[in-house]
Amino acid sequence: MTVLGIETSCDETAVAVVTSGREIRSNLVLSQLAEHGPYGGVVPEIAARAHLEQVDGLMARALAEAGLDFADLDGVAATGGPGLIGGVIVGVMTAKAVAAVHGLPFLAVNHLEGHALTARLTDPELDFPYLLLLVSGGHSQFLLVEGVGRYRRLGTTIDDAVGEAFDKAAKLMGLGYPGGPLLERAAENGDSARFALPRPMKGRPGCNLSFSGLKTAVRFAIEALPTPLSEADRRDLAASFQEAVADALADRARRAVALARAAHPGLRALVVAGGVAANRVIRARLADLAEGAGMRFVAPPLSLCTDNGAMIAWAGAERLAMGLADPLDFAPRPRWPLDPAAPRVTGAGIKA
Ligand code: KG4
Ligand code: ZN
Repeated sequence: MTVLGIETSCDETAVAVVTSGREIRSNLVLSQLAEHGPYGGVVPEIAARAHLEQVDGLMARALAEAGLDFADLDGVAATGGPGLIGGVIVGVMTAKAVAAVHGLPFLAVNHLEGHALTARLTDPELDFPYLLLLVSGGHSQFLLVEGVGRYRRLGTTIDDAVGEAFDKAAKLMGLGYPGGPLLERAAENGDSARFALPRPMKGRPGCNLSFSGLKTAVRFAIEALPTPLSEADRRDLAASFQEAVADALADRARRAVALARAAHPGLRALVVAGGVAANRVIRARLADLAEGAGMRFVAPPLSLCTDNGAMIAWAGAERLAMGLADPLDFAPRPRWPLDPAAPRVTGAGIKA
């Protein structure tokens, strides 16, 4: 089965063609960094317009690169939410139009499900159930992935998402946007022990996360330093921040493993997904933790951690294989929790 996937929920226009045999025939991502950079963050209106301008051309290129035509497809998938609604509408309308014209099944994929299933695209051995740490710009959650469409949220952030914390901390340090990768680079030769930053939630029961206090601590640390920040101060701050995040995530992940094993004693894999999963320090820390717990650590390649079309095409293929499809009157969803039964956490930065 061959599925085309469209991702437009944030600031990347992405289209990919993926087969159920785990072949990525094409995977194109157009970043809107240049458009949003001057504003220091994503401007929803600008994002929606840019998606609209780019998506048709990108879809044609993705098909050409795959050496395929619409007639060769078995389904067309688009992110149906959660995300910036203007962009989601662009992707969903595009996919519906293709589905209607070519008589194909349409799949509205939850963006989080795309991240959650990506590891199965690149790792054929990864069976259900597995424990997933989903860490992106809008979400930070531990999910028990029991099957396609079967997700149990074990913990979530009570305020900011971890990627959001990276972006805000990087902004405070004057590193620019997007903060995550820039902060990781700045931290490379920094002294991670120089600033004593808090490890939010460490030692607390459960596996909820919190990052707003850490961001505030970074602000206070910066206010105590001479301005403008020296290169060395910036490096050490970045390294100290990254270390605090990795440490907090490892503590929470240890508890999440225990909770997940209580539900599934035979649980064998810890999977990390989402943009922050591209961070090498965090990956290494989680890999150590998994090894210590006798679990496999599975992380998709860096290019499939940040938003892309392949994750949407793959989740579409997984759902199509189960005989699932969505009606053409599907309404895009700005909020769309993966586990609707999970209690709503009323923190500041909760996006779904
Ligand atoms: O999954 P993603 O591409 O988009 C969302 O669905 O949010 O994640 C983007 C987030 C941004 O906050 C970005 O700063 C963060 O992932 N990120 C990183 C790294 N690369 C991207 N954070 C830390 N270290 C990185 N190397
Ligand atoms: Zn994402």
